[in-house]
Amino acid sequence: MVCLGNICRSPMADGLLRRKVKDHNLNVFVDSAGTADYHTGSPPDHRMIETAKSRGTDIQELRARQFSKNDFQDFDLIYVMDESNLFNVNKLTASDTEQEKVKLILEELYPNESKRVPDPYYGSMKDFMDVYGLLDKVTDVIIEKIKNGEIR
Ligand code: 4NP
Repeated sequence: MVCLGNICRSPMADGLLRRKVKDHNLNVFVDSAGTADYHTGSPPDHRMIETAKSRGTDIQELRARQFSKNDFQDFDLIYVMDESNLFNVNKLTASDTEQEKVKLILEELYPNESKRVPDPYYGSMKDFMDVYGLLDKVTDVIIEKIKNGEIR
């Protein structure tokens, strides 16, 4: 799961998918990163931690790190939150195989609509809750696709 700072959107996506993978006894390794290094080592934004906690997901132990080229080796799929993340991650790809791993996460929910998960950093608590809602829905779809073999 990749966003810009790795303190709002991607840790929420990471925390939700980790929890659901565990709930469904699936053998999937989940992690997150930011394209920028502004917040390396920091916990998620307190507003995202609170939003997650109010809906039963604990993300406070996560720590931000910057996306690296090694992630193309370590992961089968790289979900980005918006077009800017897509551009920045695609810039680091060295082959078609790597590029094929990179997807806008909301394509799993709204195929071919190029929708983005909006950055809530300068927004209100409602914006954080809206991000939670989108990521809760799309991680449900991802879990279903893993279970039925559409995502491997
Ligand atoms: P995120 O949100 O990419 O969802 O983690 C942001 C966090 C921090 C900044 C921008 C977006 N920032 O500019 O510091």
